[in-house]
Amino acid sequence: MIPVIAIDGPSASGKGTVAQIVATKLGFHYLDSGALYRIVAFAIQQEGMDEADETRINQLLDTLRIEFNLGSIIVNKQDVTESIRSEECGKLASKVAALRSVRQHLLSLQQSFCQTPGLVADGRDMGTVVFPQAILKVYLTASANVRAERRYNQLISKGISANIMVLLQDIHERDFRDQTRLESPLKQAADAHFLDTSALTIDQAVNQVLIWYSAVSK
Ligand code: C5P
Repeated sequence: MIPVIAIDGPSASGKGTVAQIVATKLGFHYLDSGALYRIVAFAIQQEGMDEADETRINQLLDTLRIEFNLGSIIVNKQDVTESIRSEECGKLASKVAALRSVRQHLLSLQQSFCQTPGLVADGRDMGTVVFPQAILKVYLTASANVRAERRYNQLISKGISANIMVLLQDIHERDFRDQTRLESPLKQAADAHFLDTSALTIDQAVNQVLIWYSAVSK
């Protein structure tokens, strides 16, 4: 069976960074499942659609041609790599991610990333729904204050102005929405390792995941 490492956790926990480094170190493919929900949100914004209009959103989903190409994300020939990273897009992504039809639509696309020699996938439901067979599951988190601070530093380093209290409130709202929705809510899988990175460096978090992986891949 193709080995999958599923890394789930709340927004701004650093799971994307950790997952990408683990994938590079193991020579595995990498799936950023949050990017798919952001792509849908971005397309809804561009079309000026109502975020609750499931019928039109379903029609829109059928028209999206998504390509991941050497670190770039191309949708219908448009490079959206940077545009989908805005706070606004993340917020809308978390709203449309609650729609059952959107999740159903993205399920087989996500599963198609499972290819040899292996996959590291990050998101909210990688270990619980998309890859329940994953050989290693990690629930990676950090305190809300640490996550707000990380997001703040990230935005400032990109020259984007930010307010830490607003970011903290957004994080609380996003956590609440992701954890309480009916469809694939964010939760730790019963067989997942818990990793709190509040006081860890990226390297320490990566090493811990690699140690767990080497223990299960023998
Ligand atoms: O991880 P990221 O912040 O880019 O994800 C954006 C939003 O997409 C999340 O807040 C979450 O609501 C949704 N998402 C999801 N399931 C995933 C990945 C992301 O519902 N597997």
